[in-house]
Amino acid sequence: MGTIDMNHPQRVWVSRPLFPEVVAKLAEHFEVLAESEDQRRSPEQLRAKLAEVDGALLGLADRVDAAVLAGNRRLKAIANLGVGYNNLDIDALNAAGIVATNTPDVLTESVADYAWALLLAAARRVSAAERWLRAGHWQGMRFDDWLSVDVHGKALGILGMGRIGQAVARRAAGFGMAVSYHNRRPLPAELEQACRARYVDKPTLLRESDHLVLVLPFTPENRHAIGAPELAAMKPTAVLVNIARGGIVDDAALAAALREGRLGAAGLDVFEGEPAVHADLLKLDNVVLSPHIASATADTRRAMASLAADNLIAALGRGPRAGRPPTPINPAVLAK
Ligand code: DGY
Repeated sequence: MGTIDMNHPQRVWVSRPLFPEVVAKLAEHFEVLAESEDQRRSPEQLRAKLAEVDGALLGLADRVDAAVLAGNRRLKAIANLGVGYNNLDIDALNAAGIVATNTPDVLTESVADYAWALLLAAARRVSAAERWLRAGHWQGMRFDDWLSVDVHGKALGILGMGRIGQAVARRAAGFGMAVSYHNRRPLPAELEQACRARYVDKPTLLRESDHLVLVLPFTPENRHAIGAPELAAMKPTAVLVNIARGGIVDDAALAAALREGRLGAAGLDVFEGEPAVHADLLKLDNVVLSPHIASATADTRRAMASLAADNLIAALGRGPRAGRPPTPINPAVLAK
């Protein structure tokens, strides 16, 4: 990474269409190259773009690794639009001395709301019933039709108990649910109490949950954290919700379990290899599917974009927080 020359105009690249006011905020400090189309780029295209800028505001589809950074002498900062940053190879960024930032906290409550939207929709068969109604099948109410499973009073399991997991847990009190969770480490007692949640091991969580919400980060260890063996350990009536990342669930194994009645239903916002969705999932009625929109409220997406811009401005040595981006991922790079 080169040092910052405050007299030299800096250039930043915004890889996805973004709110105009956020682009305008960046333009107060930088020459801004802002994309107006949401395109997928090859590693070569990404490499070429990043070679000509001092900073970049990237989306989760932009995968930055050592190969993409090879030979780059100019880039100093990447602001990622999302709390998850599995698209960034942090070791490669550290080696290149590039600061990376993410957007935690501002999306916690919206994502937790959405976990509940998927849980309720999947458990109560909302999407399937609507499709059926729209197709003109409703001829009158049959008392024994469209039976589903309750959410209130049931056992809620949460796998991954960071900020979003805790926000999901807090909402369960309104549904009178017993909440269990599994995490790398148990929460401090006061947080457990605030969430009214009990720490259990993963086999117990899988076995006992009526509804299981996945909120863990995508790391190599978490790939297929829910695969065929884990699905086999769950109740055949259970509802699984994934708002975390594609790849945490083995989508082929999930589709088989849903098709064969070994799992009740699923609500999925993220997919292995998205935007592609496993063809078997598309054929099933007991799964609610959405296109990675858990954080997509207007307020939250604006807050994420604004935080990403503040991070980029500060990481490139501008603005009131020059040198101190609000939410760095690799703060050790800043210290150098
Ligand atoms: C995140 O922040 O990681 C979400 O998945 C993007 O909305």
